[in-house]
Amino acid sequence: MSAAPRVASSRAELAALLADRRGRPDRVGLVPTMGALHEGHASLMDVARQAVGTGPVVASIFVNPLQFGPQEDLDRYPRTLQADLEVCAATGVDIVFTPTVEEVYPGGEPQVTLDPGPLAEILEGKTRPGHFRGVLVVVAKLFGLVRPEVAVFGQKDYQQLTLIRRMATDLCMDIDVVGAETVREPDGLAMSSRNRYLGAEQRQQAVGLSRALLAARAAAIEGAAAAVAAARAELATWPAVEVDYLAVTDPSLEPLPAEVPAGTEGRVLVAARVGTTRLIDNMSIVLGSPAVGRDTLPGGADRAVSSVEVHP
Ligand code: PAF
Repeated sequence: MSAAPRVASSRAELAALLADRRGRPDRVGLVPTMGALHEGHASLMDVARQAVGTGPVVASIFVNPLQFGPQEDLDRYPRTLQADLEVCAATGVDIVFTPTVEEVYPGGEPQVTLDPGPLAEILEGKTRPGHFRGVLVVVAKLFGLVRPEVAVFGQKDYQQLTLIRRMATDLCMDIDVVGAETVREPDGLAMSSRNRYLGAEQRQQAVGLSRALLAARAAAIEGAAAAVAAARAELATWPAVEVDYLAVTDPSLEPLPAEVPAGTEGRVLVAARVGTTRLIDNMSIVLGSPAVGRDTLPGGADRAVSSVEVHP
């Protein structure tokens, strides 16, 4: 069992804990989270540790009101600090930053914010206006407070990861933004803090999202349209899964041209409601080629396209 992490709940405490690290050659790693930590988060912390070696890993736990819309689940978002601290301890996190809303937004909502640009208006952005602005504002603040060299985010929130990468590049933040692979339950469901809202029957149906992505991956040899059609056909077999969007894009979320050379990489993304819970998932795909995408699925290795399963 690793030593318990130091906990900072104010900016001043965080600065004090990081003070003796400044000026050292070690890189500082940051894993921003909203808590309710699960194995997916633990893997982000492992990735941060691998990236910084003996340098400090900082995890932040902050449920950011700025990224929740008025109809969203801010109040019911799970808050499990004690269990979260245990996950941080087990993964060898050095510092946990657990600020209050007042600490992060001392004057209320900031007057100067960030414009996430057109990528924030597609996919998630269509149903969640203002969401990515809120994400980028808090991530930029965390970058400013922690000043990490490396920051790790999950590929499960692929649009978020893409936008954070763009922010770091476009605003010259000089931070290595690392995307960690999605961790899945044995049946393929992507791990998410929101999975705990699912009842038993909904939990069974939720696997429809990853099955649809696998169907898209298998059909991608025939092109993007075939991938979408295969995913839609799979989703139609899961009656409790209410699709919000299903899309195939290039790896930067830009539209793919109608014709692409065999072997072109793409991304298939899905969002759906199961009961009142909104879930998202995505996978890499390779178009016009029998190669599978690069995500690792349960079982360790990439699952071959021929082994796409159909639920009973
Ligand atoms: O992915 C999340 O948990 C949040 O969007 C993040 C990146 C911690 C910002 O609040």
